[in-house]
Amino acid sequence: MPLATELDLPRLDHTQPELRGDGYRAAMTALRAGESWLAANPFGFTVLDREAGEFFLRTKDAVFPGLTIGELFGIDQGPLHEEITGNIINTNGPDHRRLRNLVNPALAPRRVERYRPAMRRFLERLLAELPANGRCEFIESFAKPYPSLVIAHLMGAPLDDAPRLHHFSAWIQRQFDAASLLAERALIEQAVADCYSYVDALIAARRSTPRDDLISDLIAAEDQGDRLTHHELRDLVLNILVGGVDTSQSQLAHAVRLLATHPEQWELLRSDPHGLAPAAVEEALRYEPITPFTARMTTAELEYRGVTFPAGSIVLVSAWHANRDGLAHDVFDLAAARAPSRVLTFGAGIHYCVGANLARAEMQEALAFLAERVDAIELDGEPEFGTPSGIYSLEKLPLRVSRAG
Ligand code: HEM
Repeated sequence: MPLATELDLPRLDHTQPELRGDGYRAAMTALRAGESWLAANPFGFTVLDREAGEFFLRTKDAVFPGLTIGELFGIDQGPLHEEITGNIINTNGPDHRRLRNLVNPALAPRRVERYRPAMRRFLERLLAELPANGRCEFIESFAKPYPSLVIAHLMGAPLDDAPRLHHFSAWIQRQFDAASLLAERALIEQAVADCYSYVDALIAARRSTPRDDLISDLIAAEDQGDRLTHHELRDLVLNILVGGVDTSQSQLAHAVRLLATHPEQWELLRSDPHGLAPAAVEEALRYEPITPFTARMTTAELEYRGVTFPAGSIVLVSAWHANRDGLAHDVFDLAAARAPSRVLTFGAGIHYCVGANLARAEMQEALAFLAERVDAIELDGEPEFGTPSGIYSLEKLPLRVSRAG
């Protein structure tokens, strides 16, 4: 059986700084047009269909490579080391199962419903703050503040702290960006230390005054005996805060960009905002996943489709390709009947995104709200794309928004 390293594979370096926007789309489309289910990248391999993606995400013989990355970069003490070793994404086996059993109920679909009225209040406020002529930079004035307001509300934090939560999230996420880890390590360490202090104060406040919010739910679980230690509780709160801000921001930004550049889809959404918002969200998640490459590292030698992957191989799962598996036409189309569970944008297996219900609710509320209140959205300049390494963000989205009535 050939080793994966011996194969003559197509190659995509997803870390190239110029791989953005149309160039990124063209490179991904070219890989899709090829025959291979496997490609090479600078760290290892990338799998290009859903079945292979699910295999590597679900196998017990592969883990998220966070601990190894930490070791490679010499992160062996200090706040970031504490964060990496306590991160739920780097926890596996019975400890991971116990943590997920505790946190899943707090983010289950019915519990998430209670946050929808607050989401609508935040949307009202953000729309009211847009300039009267409708010309705005959508990221700064809408996509960026919205998820941090939602997370602040969900944590029972003061809403005025939302920009601080955004700062924590943006900096702590940079641990997944090698260049930033090399150049800005001290700033990342500082953000982790500040975030831990902030989270400790929040937990103390909720402990003395419980409310109907996520931290109070988790404290109640902690109080039921030895099911959750204080360190696990603060790490979970930090993981939710960090994982729940720039992800939703970027996915919402891409959804709005796609609607602005597909006016017929925008008109369709406007014909039934609440009925069609869930389909619009699923289609944006499918068409432009903001987590296009989720990483795994094999912990044992693995054989798959006649190829041997030695222990220690890095395998990226391309959600972009998996989400297009079996589709003849690569179009953004709300009306197409596609099973929502088939997208890999939220991952698969034991680490499947714990915030998926919240992210979907946030985006559904935002798209339904905009479709009800806004007649037309158009690009008012070129969007500026981030790179797809890590979270595929939009850095700028200049829009012209015509309010209804
Ligand atoms: C559109 C928005 C989002 C996307 C596309 C997304 C994507 C993902 C993906 C792909 C994973 C799995 C990573 C892996 O297996 O390697 C994941 C895990 C995770 N996500 Fe999200 N996410 C989003 C929003 C959120 C939100 C809103 C929260 C918090 C409320 C959150 C918290 C987490 C956490 C804590 C994990 C780790 C789960 C575990 O290890 O068991 N995410 N997310």
